[in-house]
Amino acid sequence: MIPTGQRCEPLVADVPDFVMISRGARIARPRRLKFPILVKPLKEEASLGISQASFVETDEQFRERVLFVHEKYECDVIAEEYIEGRELYVSILGNQRLQVFPIRELIFREVPPDEPKIATYRAKWDEEYRKRWGLQNQFAEGLDPALVAEIERTCRRIYRLLAIDCYARIDLRLTAKNELCFIEANPNPILAADEDFALSAEKGGLPYPQLIERITRLGLKTARD
Ligand SMILES: Nc1ncnc2c1ncn2[C@@H]1O[C@H](COP(=O)(O)OP(=O)(O)O)[C@@H](O)[C@H]1O
Ligand SMILES: [Mg+2]
Repeated sequence: MIPTGQRCEPLVADVPDFVMISRGARIARPRRLKFPILVKPLKEEASLGISQASFVETDEQFRERVLFVHEKYECDVIAEEYIEGRELYVSILGNQRLQVFPIRELIFREVPPDEPKIATYRAKWDEEYRKRWGLQNQFAEGLDPALVAEIERTCRRIYRLLAIDCYARIDLRLTAKNELCFIEANPNPILAADEDFALSAEKGGLPYPQLIERITRLGLKTARD
């Protein structure tokens, strides 16, 4: 997947330790995987199948949630160590030359400090729920410029390593120790004008009509190449 001729530097972001559990397989937590754990459907998106109950702290909760996802969503499971930290969204545009736009963040303003902070299905799509818990998407504030540069570098590397073209949103967690953890790459993020990708692009100097034109041109060029 790494384009030839491109230097491969080590990534400075980690990924959460994880296990995959197929439907029908024995449900057991490998001992190396430490609680708390987040149990997710392997192939869904938009946080379908992710709720506060996905956050598990005992083997019994783990088994129950894995079984629930297997049965209700009829799909395999990925269970990851839960990474506590700020939730950052990094939007990138380009094929050869990449443009990284200003970083967005999901804020959990009214969620008590000791509660898990997860972009669950309701956290994304239920306006009432978002209001109740003070969930808000905004531009990330107070990040040291050197850290922003490191985040940008890391996200470019992830984009290249995964051979993404045209545009993507990379989702990360930033721990209290300023360690980066790579959660997910979205090669087809929502492009609505009031969503994170377009808002980031606009702040980065690309108004919505120009953004859509750039994406269209990049897409056509990729299709021709
Ligand atoms: N390992 C993890 N540690 C902490 N939070 C996580 C972890 N994995 C997922 N999350 C939370 O759950 C959300 C959705 O997970 P994700 O893997 O991106 O699924 P989807 O593809 O449905 O968006 C993330 O945006 C994040 O808030
Ligand atoms: Mg996601």
